[in-house]
Amino acid sequence: MSALGHPEGESVSTQGSGSPVGAPAMDAELQRRVLEGLQQPHKSLPAALFYDDEGTRLFQQITALPEYYLTRAEDALLRAQAEAMAALLTPPHGSALELVELGSGDGAKTLPLCAALHARCATLVYRPVDTAALALQQLVARFAAALPALPVAPVCGDYFRHWPAARPSARQAALFMGSNLGNYTRDEALALLRGVRDRLAAGDRLLLGLDLKKDPHAIRAAYDDAAGITAQFNLNLLRRLNRECGFDFDLAHFRHYASYDPLDGTARSFLVSRCAQRVASRTLGVTLHFAAGETIYTEQSQKYDAPLIEALAAGSGFAVERHFTDAPGGYTVVAWRAA
Ligand code: AVI
Repeated sequence: MSALGHPEGESVSTQGSGSPVGAPAMDAELQRRVLEGLQQPHKSLPAALFYDDEGTRLFQQITALPEYYLTRAEDALLRAQAEAMAALLTPPHGSALELVELGSGDGAKTLPLCAALHARCATLVYRPVDTAALALQQLVARFAAALPALPVAPVCGDYFRHWPAARPSARQAALFMGSNLGNYTRDEALALLRGVRDRLAAGDRLLLGLDLKKDPHAIRAAYDDAAGITAQFNLNLLRRLNRECGFDFDLAHFRHYASYDPLDGTARSFLVSRCAQRVASRTLGVTLHFAAGETIYTEQSQKYDAPLIEALAAGSGFAVERHFTDAPGGYTVVAWRAA
């Protein structure tokens, strides 16, 4: 998943239904952010680092875990409400429609909505954007098998540097699902939403999948599963730093820790040093010192409520049009209209 202004290598786009070419490697900017984060008094890593091929595979396993309710909740909403969402996104007067999905992943969740939209709007072009090349390849195969007549034009790269060009006079609808917005700080989220707004015309729609505040036990369990897959996902960051930045992290010397704070609605993940240790990269010429119990902050996953959602919409030039919320009230897909 791309981070705003935090590109992971150069984009490679393809036309038509081709596969994205060339996996992004860690570029100088991401490497700079890694070093900056690790040299802060409270060490941190950019969440953009999670989605190398192994991270993408682990995240796909997370989405099937019993504790990780988010994906199932969103999938069920997208299936149950596909017709209503497609009706909302279909442009008037038979205009062509570009569906731009930021952080599409492998496209499994979006397929029912695309099928419903394609049935209404023969001119639809689906443009998934993601930094995970592996996920985009899977998406292309999935859509070719299930919706062969729908043009799919994947873009592997940063959301804004590589926002896909629309056909002249086509309307655009943007999708940002999976509660991916929750991985950004409030300021980053507002900047990202403003960036989306700037690329849309007045009246275009944004559909946003958001995880809602709920029983803190359920949220914390979603980020600390019994099978330890989320722990592997978190530790994979260190594996990537070893491979791509020449560090010598010993993964056995770190463990995953997840918290949820009901006061601010933020789930947070950390890697905790099991002992006092030194970690170095000869490639980068740095040595890091860890005290026993010291943490690296690796991810935030914000949970939302109505006032927070309203404030984000108002602060980024959108008007809330409709909420598609599931029956337990734990997950929502909001439809916003570009003001
Ligand atoms: C992709 N993102 C919305 C996930 C989340 O829930 O924050 C990433 C994740 N991290 C640990 N588990 C899942």
